[in-house]
Amino acid sequence: MPKNPLHTKLCDMLEIEFPVMAFTHCKDVVVAVVNAGGFACLGEAMHPPDRISQDINWIRERVGGKPFGVDLVLPSSAPPAGTVDKLHEGIPDDYWAYARSILDKYDVPPPKAEQDLHTWGGLNQEIAREQMDVVLEEKAPVFCSGLGSPHFMVEAAHERGMKVMGLVGKKRQAVRELEAGVDAIIAQGYDAAGHTGPIGTFSVVPEVVSVAGDTPVVAAGGISTGQHLAAALCLGAAGVWTGSMWLCSRESDTDMVMKEKLLAADADSTVYSSSISGFSMRVTRCPWTDEWAKADALKPLHSPYQMLLSSEYIQGANDHRRGDLMTEAAGQGIGFVTEMKPARQMMFDMVEEALETFENLTGVMPG
Ligand SMILES: Cc1cc2nc3c(=O)[nH]c(=O)nc-3n(C[C@H](O)[C@H](O)[C@H](O)COP(=O)(O)O)c2cc1C
Repeated sequence: MPKNPLHTKLCDMLEIEFPVMAFTHCKDVVVAVVNAGGFACLGEAMHPPDRISQDINWIRERVGGKPFGVDLVLPSSAPPAGTVDKLHEGIPDDYWAYARSILDKYDVPPPKAEQDLHTWGGLNQEIAREQMDVVLEEKAPVFCSGLGSPHFMVEAAHERGMKVMGLVGKKRQAVRELEAGVDAIIAQGYDAAGHTGPIGTFSVVPEVVSVAGDTPVVAAGGISTGQHLAAALCLGAAGVWTGSMWLCSRESDTDMVMKEKLLAADADSTVYSSSISGFSMRVTRCPWTDEWAKADALKPLHSPYQMLLSSEYIQGANDHRRGDLMTEAAGQGIGFVTEMKPARQMMFDMVEEALETFENLTGVMPG
């Protein structure tokens, strides 16, 4: 019998049917993807420990023993401690003035609620450590680190029967994580949503595969179709890690104003900017990113200071649902997501298209 090209070592390792991993901040999307035969990872970097614990148990009750992941950010550059108010003091006056000029120029309304960065793992190392401790305590089946290396917790996770995955944008980062004993490596290219490096998906994936040996490599960045999935497997990946596409799923709690913007977006609607968080990040273009890209703009601050500076704009735009101002992390593959569908359907469509792609390729092979 011919081998199913979609059954990879990642499927064996995670006991999943399809080699498709979803990153999302929405618990309902996690449950839908996992129950559709894929794997999903819940972004918990913004949440306090008790909420993380509740979310893990909420998902557990709905996926019948199937594995899922929790993702945190562990930036080594974050200060050891410090509250939002204390860190505000580290932002120079001319930066506050520049941010204020943008808020005034675009008539950005003030946030309705208190800004919610107090429990963000990127704010300081203490918060990130407390978040990680609860993930270990709850023995989440898989821990992923989207920003910063998880090397220091691999042993503790393995002792608890958990698996650890690290996300990298360069071959040398992959080598470090492989040496630390991660169970899989996510190789993410420039096309990706969120924090990402300067190397494209088509280059970084085979580079990481070349050093990974038997450890599964998962391709990320701009992946949103079955053709992308097939291409990733051809590059030597054992699966794909996807983010943006799930924002447009029916289950996603993304605001409808943003969903509509994303459904209408194409690759050109996204920009690579450090103006939101201080790290290079791909997001949908908005007045804030435009202003910081101007030749005479100030150079964005490092994280977490730039994140604190941008939060009034982001939250004001979101709270008042100002489509002209809102921005979201989105990758270059967003242009292929044109319809809001249930996550289960999105998974099946991706798998079917990947299988068709392989069949078509086999059909044109000589002999
Ligand atoms: C809205 C959104 C928020 C994200 N937030 C995080 C995050 O908090 N932590 C993280 O590790 N990755 C985050 N990411 C990045 C994803 O984990 C993933 O690496 C990326 O979306 C893959 O690229 P793609 O969107 O082109 O599929 C986010 C992505 C999106 C779309």
